[in-house]
Amino acid sequence: MILSENISLKPLNSFGIDAKARFFAGFTSLVQLNEILAGPSFRADQPLLILGGGSNILFTKDFDGYVLKNEIKGIELVQEDAAHYYVKASAGENWHQFVMYCINHNYAGIENLSLIPGNVGASPMQNIGAYGVEIKDVFYELEAFHLKEKKTYTFRNKDCEFGYRESVFKKKHKGQFIILNVTFRLQKQPVFHTQYGAIEQELNRMQIQDLSIKSISDAVINIRTAKLPDPAVTGNAGSFFKNPIIPQALFEKLKTSYPSLPGYPSANNEIKIAAGWLIENTGWKGYRNGDAGCYDKQALVLVNYGDANGSDIYSLSQSIIESVQEKFGITLEREVNIL
Ligand code: FAD
Ligand code: EPU
Repeated sequence: MILSENISLKPLNSFGIDAKARFFAGFTSLVQLNEILAGPSFRADQPLLILGGGSNILFTKDFDGYVLKNEIKGIELVQEDAAHYYVKASAGENWHQFVMYCINHNYAGIENLSLIPGNVGASPMQNIGAYGVEIKDVFYELEAFHLKEKKTYTFRNKDCEFGYRESVFKKKHKGQFIILNVTFRLQKQPVFHTQYGAIEQELNRMQIQDLSIKSISDAVINIRTAKLPDPAVTGNAGSFFKNPIIPQALFEKLKTSYPSLPGYPSANNEIKIAAGWLIENTGWKGYRNGDAGCYDKQALVLVNYGDANGSDIYSLSQSIIESVQEKFGITLEREVNIL
């Protein structure tokens, strides 16, 4: 395997940041990955980044190490039982295309996750979620390659320690594994998730008579297209911050000063509050400085209008964190992986 040198990552990250990789290669199989790792130009003591679709990453500088893009492809129905299809997808499959494949085959369970950018391999990393569904709800198992031990391990649902935008791969196993494939346990009889307010409204607007996984997917696509910027047009990585989860008592206290603050019940009697609301209500929505900005239709999304660099976006995120902290006493946590 040949490693290319000093490659621009601009087309490979959805923020469109023009950072360079010191070394770059794509791999389409575990054999190819092993060839790279065993090759004469690979040094295990240098930084290594496994890249998927690049839609949850902010490069704040050039990457002085190896960027290896997982391009392993394949989708396979591996098992069936009375109620489920078990569908294995390789890490390099595009997530949205995989969702469309499942809808076309009547495999139900991930239709609410339509139009999320990126690849299958990254989906367990932060337990992707949208419109009332997270992948932990349909996750069966994954296979991941341990970089140091050069061994493949299987992780079942509980091994992944999924949480809100969290998994074991962002915590104690950070940087140790390369996810090779993910198997999803999808339903034969769909269970529709329309509880998220915007979905109900959109289905009504679409005048849907017979609910189906396709109509839910269409509704989600419509909602997302209306309020999220298309990375092909305006650089972004989706929500830049997580929605904070705060104690009930603090939520009630904030509500007395800010009655319109949205909050949703979370585990352990805590409340998840809308970071987009906090950012909008500190005056950042629609803000622009050069080519770095806070999106005017969704304040939780930071955008690159053209030639912003990663530091411009990062500085803006820091200013937003400080304002929100000052006004509401809440510290926003970044969702996007900062490099
Ligand atoms: P990348 O950005 O390439 O990588 C993300 C992280 O995962 C990096 O740390 C990388 O090293 C690691 N990684 C990637 N692949 C592998 C692998 N095979 N093995 C090991 N590590 C790996 N996310 C949501 O949860 N919900 C949403 O609704 C949502 N909406 C979005 C909307 C927009 C417009 C955009 C741009 C992003 C949105 N996101 C959302 C974020 C993003 O789409 C997801 O986080 C997605 O899973 C990232 O996939 P990726 O392949 O692009 O990952
Ligand atoms: N809001 C505002 N102003 C804004 C944006 C949002 O006041 O500018 C308030 C509104 O009250 C709105 C509420 O926030 O009702 C929630 O907004 P929205 O439904 O757009 O969702 P979100 O909480 O901002 C989360 C996820 C998204 C996911 C959607 C739908 C996080 C960090 N973000 O956004 O995920 O698509 O819900 O489920 O949890 C991502 O992770 O990249 C992402 C886009």
